[in-house]
Amino acid sequence: MMLDAMSLVRQPSLKWDDTQFDPAPFMKDGGPEPFYVSSLGALYADDCTAVLPFIRDEVVDAVFADPPFNLGKDYGSRTNDDVPDPEYLEWCRSWIRECCRGLKPGGAFFLYNLPKWNVLLGAFLTDIGMTFRHWIAIEISACLPIPGRLHPSHYSLLYYTKGKPKTFRRIRTPILTCRHCGGEVKDYGGHRDAMNPKGVNLKDVWADIPPVRHWKFKSKDRRANALSTKILDRVVEMATVPGEMVMDPFGGSGATFAVCEKKSRQWLGMEIDFAREIVERIESGEIRSHKNEDYVVC
Ligand SMILES: C[S@@+](CC[C@H](N)C(=O)[O-])C[C@H]1O[C@@H](n2cnc3c(N)ncnc32)[C@H](O)[C@@H]1O
Repeated sequence: MMLDAMSLVRQPSLKWDDTQFDPAPFMKDGGPEPFYVSSLGALYADDCTAVLPFIRDEVVDAVFADPPFNLGKDYGSRTNDDVPDPEYLEWCRSWIRECCRGLKPGGAFFLYNLPKWNVLLGAFLTDIGMTFRHWIAIEISACLPIPGRLHPSHYSLLYYTKGKPKTFRRIRTPILTCRHCGGEVKDYGGHRDAMNPKGVNLKDVWADIPPVRHWKFKSKDRRANALSTKILDRVVEMATVPGEMVMDPFGGSGATFAVCEKKSRQWLGMEIDFAREIVERIESGEIRSHKNEDYVVC
């Protein structure tokens, strides 16, 4: 269903319908009005640095952030993805600080970026008191070789928590099979029979993430980066339980919110240029997901 998303802007005079998510417990008084609310979440069509200061302290269970990488990419008209390095890093530090303030004790912070930036932003997270959990390497196939360098083949997903993690659910991934013959790829040193039939423990190298190329995951009006829902499935399942709150300050195509809708998590989102496209994705009813055979150990 195509929507006139502007008609979904919350009017201050309207009373909340009981079936709609109410952002008030998460937003300080005087904060911005959401552009859109579903039964589970609220989307702000604005610069996240203007919205985040209104998030109340320690109300969010997990944050996932996938900012522009400062690679000169063409996003919407309000994003400049080509600024001097110190300016980019200072900008990142400003919203990271606000995201961490909004996290509950034990809440999780995931930051997806180039290794070049995440090595510095990880140090910053440690400086502000966050606890390192993992550097997750997400294998990518689409990167071009760079002369004089190793061929880049992963992006970094930093996983920090605010102190001891309050929720960490183990995930098992299927035992690897050959996509041609279906046979198992490894022999597990003769211990195959003793292995858990639900699969192996999720590793910190994710080589099974499909690139998002297919039109069905993308809006016709937004061709820029969109992550596979499989990444968000893992993040959401690992760090939250149903009913908890996930925040994403760089909504993009709305992958995080689509996964939250499907997995019954509450969500708060910000997106400076493509809020309308996110609303279309959520309101279309059928939330497209990549195949995912992860098993969550409850
Ligand atoms: C890398 S994309 C995020 C993609 C998203 N994770 C997905 O899977 O669809 C970054 C997004 O951040 C948005 N953006 C850039 N600067 C922003 C800001 N200051 N506040 C909110 N959104 C911003 C861009 O418009 C872009 O859609």
